[in-house]
Amino acid sequence: MNRVSFYLLRFSLILLITALCVGVAAAFVFFDTGFFNQFLPFYKLRPIHVTASIFWILTAAQGGVIYYLNDYYKLEHKQTLLIKASYFLWLLSIILILISFLSGKFGGREYWEFPPILAIPILLSWALFAIHFFKIILKNKGKKPVYIWMWSTGVVFFLLTYIEANLWQIPWFRENVIRDITVQWKANGAIVGSWNQLVYGTAFYLMAKIGEDENSAFNKKSFFFYFLGLTNLIFNWGHHTYNVPAATWVRDVSYVISMTEWILLINIMQNFKSKISEAKKFLNIIPYRFLLASEAWVFLNLILAILMSIPAINIYTHGTHITVAHAMGATIGINTMILFASLFFIFSKRDSNFSLINNKTITIFFWSANIALLFFWAALILAGITKGYYMVSLSQTFETAMQHVKPYLFIFSITGTILAFSLLVLSIVLLRAKIFSNNKA
Ligand code: HEM
Repeated sequence: MNRVSFYLLRFSLILLITALCVGVAAAFVFFDTGFFNQFLPFYKLRPIHVTASIFWILTAAQGGVIYYLNDYYKLEHKQTLLIKASYFLWLLSIILILISFLSGKFGGREYWEFPPILAIPILLSWALFAIHFFKIILKNKGKKPVYIWMWSTGVVFFLLTYIEANLWQIPWFRENVIRDITVQWKANGAIVGSWNQLVYGTAFYLMAKIGEDENSAFNKKSFFFYFLGLTNLIFNWGHHTYNVPAATWVRDVSYVISMTEWILLINIMQNFKSKISEAKKFLNIIPYRFLLASEAWVFLNLILAILMSIPAINIYTHGTHITVAHAMGATIGINTMILFASLFFIFSKRDSNFSLINNKTITIFFWSANIALLFFWAALILAGITKGYYMVSLSQTFETAMQHVKPYLFIFSITGTILAFSLLVLSIVLLRAKIFSNNKA
């Protein structure tokens, strides 16, 4: 049994719970900067929430990949020293990051606002994970399914792009503002692309296993999706560097690539839905539902991204809450839903009774999470439109615009609390599964 993958999956849930609790506090400060802000300043809550959210995605994806790789190559879930050391360093660095946040020590750059020295153990841990991963896949010859290609790409590119995101520590990069911003945002865009490879690869793995259709992981459409994702990873920075003087075609090309990737993902998921039999669906009903939810969220985020890319609309939306809706819509709606599908898939293989006993609770909170997320997301979009309208069309001050935005931020805080509570219950259900005592997998 590979305990490390289970430790990682459980630890990812702790990170998610941390992100949710801090997110709720941040949402109320966001709504009322005066009252709540004096107790819990937003500038401290935001980085804790964002860092915990990002590490939730990375840790849950990593744990899943280790588990699935062992399963795919039937490796009896052996633990090597490499993977144990990688896990130890990962755990240690994240705990140190959280401690440094709690003791008021920040630093670093957007999304990674912890003391930059902690980037070293993170990189080291990921490098050990990468060696473990490639040792397994290189030892096992033969044609590789698309999800192994995706995971390999995600593993390598996270290493490269995370190094890139830390280049600002070299004076040559940070001494020139344009160079600094360009490299920073290029790296952040590509990091998202690399974790998407890990998460989308997981979705492909689950579709192949749940639908019992291994051919789907070898067909041309899946590989076309993979190459599109890879291109997106390399070029999607174009639409993150809007504030540097660059040719507009760079941004346009990357927008088109990102959107084509989503259109194809919807098409592949619909194909999976149309082919799967009722019996197979029933056997894995919980992961199946989470995968379907992610498909709906890909669709909604695609509409938002198309609207945001229209220049006449972009003047209003740029730098407003719509950017936050775009970021959270994708990280919660797409990444988190796929990762929940993965966790429920693995945990019910390990503890066969657990999904049966908790089926009702899971169903209720699955729906409440998705409905709350819809209102949460819509409230952010409406807040963004309102802010843009008052500031750009009516040339009002920031303060006046924010007075009109407040009701939407109130809805955001309330629906965010319901969303957080629902995800919290789902996380607790997963944490209570007896994954270590069973020998089913
Ligand atoms: C799985 C759960 C979640 C994930 C993965 C997540 C992820 C993120 C990310 C990536 C950002 C940065 C957005 C940006 O830079 O534009 C963010 C910001 C934020 N999130 Fe979340 N989030 C989650 C849940 C929540 C919940 C439940 C709440 C509130 C109840 C919340 C409140 C906030 C707030 C207030 C911000 C700051 C927005 C700003 O600075 O403009 N989040 N979140």
